[in-house]
Amino acid sequence: MSDSNTQYTRLMERARQARERAYAPYSNFKVGAALLTAGGEVITGGNVENASYGLSMCAERVALFAAVARGERDIRAIAVAAGTRAIPCGACRQVMLELAPEADVITREEDGSLRVQKVKELLPDAFTL
Ligand code: THU
Repeated sequence: MSDSNTQYTRLMERARQARERAYAPYSNFKVGAALLTAGGEVITGGNVENASYGLSMCAERVALFAAVARGERDIRAIAVAAGTRAIPCGACRQVMLELAPEADVITREEDGSLRVQKVKELLPDAFTL
């Protein structure tokens, strides 16, 4: 059984691979996300942009919606990879709170180390129904 640091390093590598499949011709800012499920499965996504810019979808939400489509509702961790440091946007934080409220969010610091934060830290005092 690998410790969570090793597990999260591997998850970040899967996010980096997913980033290669992002479709970002307008911003040229490719992002990849990798979700770790309770069962140890990894579900990935990259951002998908559109000529009508507002229709673009972040990598995190592409991966989260894919997880729901696969019937995976117990997401333990979400790794996000970009060329530079990237942290989830506000819209993604709201969707994370809905679909993966207990998840760890893994991002990479400038120095290459991993940062681990809870979804609820990223979106305190959130709106819910
Ligand atoms: N983007 C993501 O996919 N995830 C983030 O965490 C930050 C931003 C995307 C949205 C858009 O396609 C591009 O990056 C530039 O904002």
